[in-house]
Amino acid sequence: MGSPTFYLRLFISITCLVTLLFFLNEDGWGLYTDRDRSHNVITGNLTILLWHWPFGPSYSLEGDVCWDRYRIPGCRLVDQRSLYPSADLVVFHHRELMMGQERLPLHLPRPRHQKWVWLSLESPDNSGDLKPFNNMFNWTMSYRRDADITIPYGTLLPKDGDTGNDSTEDVIPKDKSLLACWVVSHYEPQHRRSLVYKSLSGSIPVEVYGRLNGRVLAPGDLLYTISHCYFYLAFENSISKDYITEKLWRNAYQAGAVPVVLGPPPDDYMAVAPPNSFIHIEDFPSTKELGNYLRQLMLDKERYAGYFAWRRSHRVKVYTDWRERLCSICPQYHILPAQKVYYDLEAWVR
Ligand SMILES: *[C@@H]1O[C@H](CO)[C@@H](O)[C@H](O)[C@H]1NC(C)=O
Ligand SMILES: *[C@@H]1O[C@H](CO)[C@@H](O)[C@H](O)[C@H]1NC(C)=O
Repeated sequence: MGSPTFYLRLFISITCLVTLLFFLNEDGWGLYTDRDRSHNVITGNLTILLWHWPFGPSYSLEGDVCWDRYRIPGCRLVDQRSLYPSADLVVFHHRELMMGQERLPLHLPRPRHQKWVWLSLESPDNSGDLKPFNNMFNWTMSYRRDADITIPYGTLLPKDGDTGNDSTEDVIPKDKSLLACWVVSHYEPQHRRSLVYKSLSGSIPVEVYGRLNGRVLAPGDLLYTISHCYFYLAFENSISKDYITEKLWRNAYQAGAVPVVLGPPPDDYMAVAPPNSFIHIEDFPSTKELGNYLRQLMLDKERYAGYFAWRRSHRVKVYTDWRERLCSICPQYHILPAQKVYYDLEAWVR
């Protein structure tokens, strides 16, 4: 008892036990996998494998796409499934999984560090049953601000160079003749937006384009047409957290019409859009009062111009290319959680 050998053995046993517990904690029991314990380390290029292209059409990944197109270094974007074993991330677009056109490669062993990314730009209403996808993914990639990788439909970028001399008037399109415009391709009478439109058009004239009344605008005519409107009804087809689409960024801001928005609550807009640049329908007790406000604002040149103040210093960037969205993962990879599992993706989405 108390011999040096005993203490040596005791010391070795304790060291082994502590080491073992440490590793089990990190990886083994999955007890802590919901927490962001540490971050990712990049060694060499990061390989992102896109398992299938969203909605079908594929795009060229020749050369060093992320560098050549977006000046993002060290980011290897591929779509050959044979590269699965060496991929750091595998990205799965939800729609094809939901429709059963594509499947997760559950038969392949998943490399220890590899992350599976759930990609979707659809609202929860259009996401089907998510339960089959619980416990599969490590990261989410969506328009939501609380996704691991946020890919908004659009954003504001500071303008390059000195543009401080532009007066606000210079950045408002001229020749406005229509009070309010709306482009609608998928009209459902019971949608909230259809009800609001009906009611609003009882108090002000609303010019409607799109399949609803056979006045479909060619893509090249869209922005030009809307630029003649003082206000654009940027009404989302689905109302959910952070779901703010190109209806705001492209149809309204890029065209140069003030958006009247129907969608998530004002706070969600305030978080991403310029201050005093949009009109939220929830800020009015009735569509009649909203209509009156729009009428007055149209006549008050100075006040109306105030809604464009941001255009002196910022421009709108609309994202449309999946490659750009995918390449955008690389610069933020090191701050993404190293250990994470979406045990209940269904609950996260809804
Ligand atoms: C990373 O990718 C670039 C461009 O494809 C390549 O030239 C370079 O050798 C790669 N580096 C590593 C460490 O694989
Ligand atoms: C990724 O998710 C899977 C389960 O869906 C999990 O087994 C694995 O440990 C996770 N990997 C990381 C690095 O978080």
